[in-house]
Amino acid sequence: MSRLDVQIGSMHLKTPVVSASGCFGYGEEYSEFIDLNRLGAVVVKGISLKPMHGNPPPRICETPCGMLNSIGLQNVGLKVFLKEKLPFLRTFDTKVIVNIFGNSMKDYEKLASSLDDAGVDAIELNVSCPNVRKGGIWFGTDRKMLGKLVAAIKESLQHSVLITKLSPTVSDIGEFAQIAEDAGSDAVSLINTIPGIAIDINTRKPKIRNIIGGLSGPAIKPIALRMVYETYRRVTIPIIGMGGIMNASDALEFIIAGATAVAIGTANFINPLTTVEIIDGISSFMKQKNLTALDDLTGSLHAG
Ligand SMILES: Cc1cc2nc3c(=O)[nH]c(=O)nc-3n(C[C@H](O)[C@H](O)[C@H](O)COP(=O)(O)O)c2cc1C
Repeated sequence: MSRLDVQIGSMHLKTPVVSASGCFGYGEEYSEFIDLNRLGAVVVKGISLKPMHGNPPPRICETPCGMLNSIGLQNVGLKVFLKEKLPFLRTFDTKVIVNIFGNSMKDYEKLASSLDDAGVDAIELNVSCPNVRKGGIWFGTDRKMLGKLVAAIKESLQHSVLITKLSPTVSDIGEFAQIAEDAGSDAVSLINTIPGIAIDINTRKPKIRNIIGGLSGPAIKPIALRMVYETYRRVTIPIIGMGGIMNASDALEFIIAGATAVAIGTANFINPLTTVEIIDGISSFMKQKNLTALDDLTGSLHAG
């Protein structure tokens, strides 16, 4: 029997496959396509203290092997999330990871402690969103700020596991992972989208109203894999890897590079069944290779 369960801090996931924030709504949107009970966790859209309408359209566009988005962190806000979205997710036997972002340390602290009180399994700190000018970016790229933020949030949590979602817009992601680990983060997740631009040559207008959007999908996979590999060599806490995972083979690459779990984002927009298909694919691979536990694969890259 191959075991697919993994451990992220004190949180036990029955499978290593989770949704990526912002690509799976609040879980409910996908519940008519797949059995959410099969996922290791549902990671929900980034939540702020107050509801946000996001950026004006056009805010997504297709690019070669990927997409650009500048949704602008549209979300229902903490109050509605706790009242309307969390109870639905709680009807499933899966972990709930809430991605949060704020404009100040206080915002993050308030969000984290309210969600911790509500019993969510883990908080994912979005310090790496490239879409909102005054949102997280400086937390994720400033060494001091990142350390301070992670330490403050860790301090405010009683039960929830703390995951820091790292910004890919730094020259040495391993160093930032190390800062998160030293400040008390239980795990890191990476990568968020990479800032990019697409232009309509006839109108000479940007294809995204906000001009710069975040690039996701297969186009970023080699970069994400490199960052997971570099991070694995620097930290001992678990890594949730993501960036362009479309199938089980992609997911296995991330695991071999050092990821304990994987998150599926853009692929859900193409095929809403992707997450469960990847779970089945990983399971078949393990049987085929006679592997009993995922630990045997994590970070097993033969570099020489
Ligand atoms: C439409 C869209 C919305 C996103 N919203 C969030 C978000 O709210 N918080 C966050 O941390 N990441 C967000 N992301 C980033 C994804 O969670 C993920 O890190 C990234 O897309 C790379 O994975 P992928 O290539 O599988 O999509 C968003 C991505 C997309 C495409």
